[in-house]
Amino acid sequence: MSGTFRTIAWEGDALLLLDQRVLPVVESTARLTDPVAVADAIRTMVVRGAPAIGVTAAFGLVLAVQAARKKGRPWRRAFDDAATLLVGTRPTAVNLFWAIERMRGTAAALPDDAAAALASLEREAIAIFDEDVAANRAMGTHGSKLLPARAGVLTHCNAGALATAGYGTALGVIRAAVAAGKEIHVYVDETRPFLQGARLTAWELMKDGIPCTLVTDSMAGAIIAAGKIDAAVVGADRVAGNGDVANKIGTYTVAVLCRTHKVPFYVAAPLSTIDPKLRSGKEIPIEERDSSEVTHLMGKRVAPYGVSVYNPAFDVTPARYVSAIVTEKGVLTAPLAGAIRKLFR
Ligand code: MRU
Repeated sequence: MSGTFRTIAWEGDALLLLDQRVLPVVESTARLTDPVAVADAIRTMVVRGAPAIGVTAAFGLVLAVQAARKKGRPWRRAFDDAATLLVGTRPTAVNLFWAIERMRGTAAALPDDAAAALASLEREAIAIFDEDVAANRAMGTHGSKLLPARAGVLTHCNAGALATAGYGTALGVIRAAVAAGKEIHVYVDETRPFLQGARLTAWELMKDGIPCTLVTDSMAGAIIAAGKIDAAVVGADRVAGNGDVANKIGTYTVAVLCRTHKVPFYVAAPLSTIDPKLRSGKEIPIEERDSSEVTHLMGKRVAPYGVSVYNPAFDVTPARYVSAIVTEKGVLTAPLAGAIRKLFR
């Protein structure tokens, strides 16, 4: 929530999504009025980032009930069908399942009357949105204290306002540090293959006037070795009960580099991103995306026809590489398994 753009906006009868596939060249907003379009927007990354897809799915369920009501059909069936559709869009970020489960919990207690159900479900989706922004602000307050008064900070992917309902997780920590008067210079990994760093994080930071330098992923080691980085701060798609962290592919590389060079590696993640029932990161499903993301750059082929491609969208950083996890409830440190257990007790 930089104040200059809205990632997700609810209009009462439509969901507005800033189309992240075409940023930063084009600022265009998609207006969605049915759950099939919402599922498609999540799958094709019109909207992306763990908390943002959870919030989006919640509004997708509201749209399903609205459509059923207009057609005079039972709302519960439409809700269940939409939930099944939305659950199948992306597998790694747990916020998606968390938000759908929360909406299901609300739905279970509602009457068959569509108007009453709709009002409650809309209220719940708006609460999920508002609570995400509040969690990000709280993470900012807690996490900004971890950063020195003058710091070079490396980030990977986009964990900003574009990846959440507003303000951001990792970028929220950076925004709060800047607001507290700290001199932060952000080094932004471009984040191949989808270029969330180059296209989204750099755009977002520049909109806020936060000093930043874009580097390719392969430059991270050199800039850390050169002493330019005082801390790395990233977001997460799912944190297992033992503190292992799934985040955008390449995050693990950054964590290992940080450990080698004694640079703290921080993860900012709300409780909705923590999946305490998973014993370790080995149980986190890792999405594999289309090979064209690797063989092509902005629609232009850069690899030979027929080449074999592996395109996992996320990797898992073992808990031992994580210096701390910043949550809205405070900063978790080693042993992370114990800290997470205590948090969810
Ligand atoms: O594939 P994406 O762009 O949805 O992946 C996003 C990330 O990996 C983010 O770092 C993560 O969701 C945290 S967002 C606050």
